[in-house]
Amino acid sequence: MSYQVNPALKINGKIKVPGDKSISHRSLILASIAEGESKIEGLLEAEDCLSTMGIMRDLGIKITKENIGNYTVQGRGLAGLQEADNVLDCGNSGTSMRLLAGLLSSQDFYSVLTGDHSLRKRPMQRIIGPLSNMGAEIWSRKDGLAPLSIKGQKLQSMNYELPVASAQLKSSILLAALKTESETVIVEPAVSRDHTERMLKGAGVDLEIKKDRIILKEAAERKLSPFNIKVPGDISSAAFFIAAGLLADSGSLLIKNVGINQTRSGFLEIVEAMNGKIELLNQKDEGGEPTADILVKASKLKGCEVSGEIIPRLIDEIPIISVMAVMAEGKTIIKDAEELRVKETDRIAAVVKEFKRLGIEIIENPDGMEITGVQKVKGGIEVESYHDHRIAMSLAVLALNTEKGITINGSEIISTSFPNFKELLAEVRG
Ligand code: S3P
Repeated sequence: MSYQVNPALKINGKIKVPGDKSISHRSLILASIAEGESKIEGLLEAEDCLSTMGIMRDLGIKITKENIGNYTVQGRGLAGLQEADNVLDCGNSGTSMRLLAGLLSSQDFYSVLTGDHSLRKRPMQRIIGPLSNMGAEIWSRKDGLAPLSIKGQKLQSMNYELPVASAQLKSSILLAALKTESETVIVEPAVSRDHTERMLKGAGVDLEIKKDRIILKEAAERKLSPFNIKVPGDISSAAFFIAAGLLADSGSLLIKNVGINQTRSGFLEIVEAMNGKIELLNQKDEGGEPTADILVKASKLKGCEVSGEIIPRLIDEIPIISVMAVMAEGKTIIKDAEELRVKETDRIAAVVKEFKRLGIEIIENPDGMEITGVQKVKGGIEVESYHDHRIAMSLAVLALNTEKGITINGSEIISTSFPNFKELLAEVRG
């Protein structure tokens, strides 16, 4: 689907972005294995989370939609899932595949996980390796590619040092370890999003979180209590509107109720380092996650370095940071971000290719890119989404700051995480 985005001088208004994708997946999964009825408010009803919901239903869980975003889940406990009579389709969602592979490895039945052509190219060896060390029986195509075929087993706990800072990998191991008895320790090379840990603790699981390690304490039998959760707005979705507001010539934008968990909010630190004018208002704690309203004002940005420990805390925001870098005075260097090469697409290659097509000067490095602004972008051409929602939305924000606008091909992929993105952008543009 082609999506024409025209330039806009002003970005103004008050909006709410959809629920957090990571928290939505985890709410569905953990509510399904809790002992009884949980209620989820503000669930992200986008394709990725609907894939997880469909799979939990295929595994015998009753999930009822009460009204928009509000669901009741009848959890059946850690031993209550049932074998599905078909393959389980994760669509475009790496979170569904990696987290569920962990959970299903410890069930006493057989499962097959598959996904779309993008997901079937993404590395699954990173979960197959450690899960196999715990005793899991998982088969894949060569080089650890999906579909994954899992014969559920009784697993052993383990101590594991993650080779990459990945919340999906960490969560996969934690879910697999829930049915083991002795202690499991996971050490992270850098902090990654901690929603799984927070939610497991909230459901009564004995979990200790130290600076670089997560300890799932010894337990003869673990049980998760059912819970009620209000999912905050997704900071990774808000980031596109924060960038649009900062890059406009004038205007101010208020984004209500966004999750600002520190393990996710590296983007806000970079906005400040780039001289972006933002304010966090009405800060509170909702269901174990910190939230705020974010007020964004048109700003003159300057370049900065994005590297090191902050990378996992803003990993999904790097494409939109690269758009901000084009419009920022001076040099922006993004490094230590080789993980971008194994996302929904190779996000470094995709940004570099489409920026170059638009006449933007950019240097590609194995682990990132370098951009010197301010660059004027003419636009007036077609660009590609690479079947990646965040590439499509980043190019849409870039289009606002061109002379002639841009047409984005393959924009239907935006609905994997942000179904009303186009409507919201139309609402705030002046
Ligand atoms: C996610 C973790 C990140 C992120 C993805 C969602 C999660 O992936 O890029 O969009 O919900 O755990 P990695 O764990 O592969 O870094």
